[in-house]
Amino acid sequence: MASHDMASIAQALVAKSKGILAADESTGTIAKRLTLIGMPSTEENRRDWRELLFTADGFADYISGVILYDETIRQKAKDGTPFVDLLNKAGVIPGIKVDMGAKPLAGSPDEKVTEGLDGLRERLAEYRKIGARFAKWRAVIDIAADQPSNYCLDVNAHALARYAALCQEADIVPIVEPEVLMDGDHDIDRCYEVTSAALRTVFAALDTQRVVLEEMLLKPNMVISGKKCPTQASAAEIAEKTVRCFRNTVPAAVPGIVFLSGGQSDEDATANLDAINRIGNLPWEVSYSYGRALQHGALMAWGGKPGNVGAGQRAFAHRARLVSAARDGRYSAKMESEAA
Ligand code: 13P
Repeated sequence: MASHDMASIAQALVAKSKGILAADESTGTIAKRLTLIGMPSTEENRRDWRELLFTADGFADYISGVILYDETIRQKAKDGTPFVDLLNKAGVIPGIKVDMGAKPLAGSPDEKVTEGLDGLRERLAEYRKIGARFAKWRAVIDIAADQPSNYCLDVNAHALARYAALCQEADIVPIVEPEVLMDGDHDIDRCYEVTSAALRTVFAALDTQRVVLEEMLLKPNMVISGKKCPTQASAAEIAEKTVRCFRNTVPAAVPGIVFLSGGQSDEDATANLDAINRIGNLPWEVSYSYGRALQHGALMAWGGKPGNVGAGQRAFAHRARLVSAARDGRYSAKMESEAA
């Protein structure tokens, strides 16, 4: 049964000790990452970087699924094995980013709306054939003095729900990602207020558009201080406010919440997830769908040098092991220095 499959896939993605690797950077974003290590962003270099991640020893112990980009889901490893086959063989579920990016919002050009609904039904059918079992759509919500507007929250929620409904029609589990950015100098309480408003709007739209909550995952930001806020909340405060916010806005029928890292340092993203899970007795599984926080250390250790592939893979597996411990609420800072 199609629907039974989607609920099982959603649950498998948030299985104990496991979470998602977001490796779905658009061509523009991956170029920025490769530039950090002085590499040109050629198709081959992008392939080599993703192959390093997908062939790291033991990574499947911590990673349930990988979100791929359109180019990546069609790529093959150096030995000719399609990435999708390589992931499936490792027991890792392939997923796909299907939005076309955040664009200026007509009538409120300082805000953004995510595009990509046109032709989505056909693209989903093709991705399902290639092997995608889940998908991602990211809405971007910025906090400023008079932002976000209700208009911005509404149109983004509408698009997220349209996307989610089309995914479920195509037998693909939607990951619904309303990301409230951590840029800015706002405090944690302002983040709480905006995140609550965003989530209420999203779940109202999902309800209107008949999205089955048991067959989706939510990918939100944590409730956290803005990067430039002079008072940075502790992990304990982040955990307490994040859990309170989600208890008040996210129905218990949603099988899992998978946080984005959003520009937090690798260590903060790990410690904060751990603090959230230590609160315990949560109605949903609480896990990760990290991009930067899972990849940054590995990218630096690799540095684009063929001789450093092993070092990059060890750094990736090390961080994945720590984030996995945090997902189960059994991470400690001293694990940071333990051998990979
Ligand atoms: P970060 O963890 O780097 O925020 O990326 C997750 C993601 O997929 C954002 O859409």
